[in-house]
Amino acid sequence: MKVLLLGSGGREHALAWKLVQSPLLTELHAAPGNPGIAALGHCHPVRADDPEAVLGLAGSLGVALVVIGPEVPLVAGLADALRRNGIPVFGPGRAAAAIEGSKQFAKEVMQAAGVPTAQVLPQPAAPCVLKADGLAAGKGVVVCLTQEEVTAGLAELAGLPGPLVVEELLEGPEVSLFAVCDGVTAIALPVAQDFKRAYDGDAGPNTGGMGSYAPVPGLDAVDVEELVDVTCRPVLAELAARGAPFIGTLFAGLMLTGDGPRVLEYNCRFGDPETQSLLPLVDDDLLVVLAAAAQGDLSGVRLGPAARAAVTVVLAAGDYPAAGDQGSEITGVADAEAAGALVFHAGTALRGGRLVTNGGRVLNVTAVGADLVAARHSAYAAADKISWSGARRRGDIALAATAGGTLQTRPEAHLD
Ligand code: AMP
Ligand code: GLY
Repeated sequence: MKVLLLGSGGREHALAWKLVQSPLLTELHAAPGNPGIAALGHCHPVRADDPEAVLGLAGSLGVALVVIGPEVPLVAGLADALRRNGIPVFGPGRAAAAIEGSKQFAKEVMQAAGVPTAQVLPQPAAPCVLKADGLAAGKGVVVCLTQEEVTAGLAELAGLPGPLVVEELLEGPEVSLFAVCDGVTAIALPVAQDFKRAYDGDAGPNTGGMGSYAPVPGLDAVDVEELVDVTCRPVLAELAARGAPFIGTLFAGLMLTGDGPRVLEYNCRFGDPETQSLLPLVDDDLLVVLAAAAQGDLSGVRLGPAARAAVTVVLAAGDYPAAGDQGSEITGVADAEAAGALVFHAGTALRGGRLVTNGGRVLNVTAVGADLVAARHSAYAAADKISWSGARRRGDIALAATAGGTLQTRPEAHLD
């Protein structure tokens, strides 16, 4: 089977790494891809958010499946355009991708489906959370503890389009729940945690994610099924009833509060950097799963997680997230791989045969171990072999989880 993978980040490199392990794969194509993906397949200089160019490429290659990584082309309706042209796609159409593209739509669907989420407040009064409606690359949410923060937050979000959602401030550990969906059924992946803040101890500004790990201690397979039952399957049914069946990965950002799990947001795609930790835990053939979902029939398909753990440490530019780094030579990737780690590229480029920095989040170092302690140790040992001028990483990815667990809240104790 010929596959076209869209995107250029660590998530897409991890998807490519897993897809090429499938005996069903004949050719892997990517657009635009990155140097890591280029070592696994053919990269084409086509932007994932240029629908005409993607349609032309998919048609000329004659691919049997397109896998769309990022949210922007999904929310813009790329999957619909491909399907209209008879090309199977893993990724929701525009109407279903609105679950990520519009916070207001997501709230309305959650309310109709009876999914537990933060209450909408009539007024922006502290404490509360302000959310811009549309995609805002992680900059559309302001958590306000004081009225001064509300005033500042309102000013900050005033320039963004769409209505503002104001909701109650919740507390508890956050986890990322992923369900692969065929429009009707949902199959769960292990639950992951990511680390959004720039610096150790969850300090500093929000980023695209500085690391991840999976599985989350304290959530066994039964707990995960319950979470999918409560937070994903009702939304899947509601979207299908509205004529917008969701085919792709439904990613619920959950807060495990003292009153039970609450959905903070949905994403319509795999998470980055969660995917880098999740896919090395999957023994089943990912291409079989994604192709079956794209055909609308996941029945009989397995996505069984292995009994091991994975930790991903992101290596970022020194000034990330304020700025990226360009052109600094990267050394030590082969050494990190020789130590047994997976090195997934994100912001890298090849210049004259040398690997250089080309972005904010540059590399992801993922290690798998029998448990989180072993995986964490290997991930940091490998990450320490890689360097460039100004490289930065957090030192506390998965630290709390290996030191006895971050989750005081077992969700099944709170599910109705
Ligand atoms: P979102 O884009 O909706 O996931 O929000 C980004 C981040 O804001 C989340 O990862 C949480 O840390 C925080 N957040 C969002 N909604 C709430 C809420 N209702 N209560 C507390 N924190 C929230
Ligand atoms: N790691 C969070 C995201 O992919 O949105």
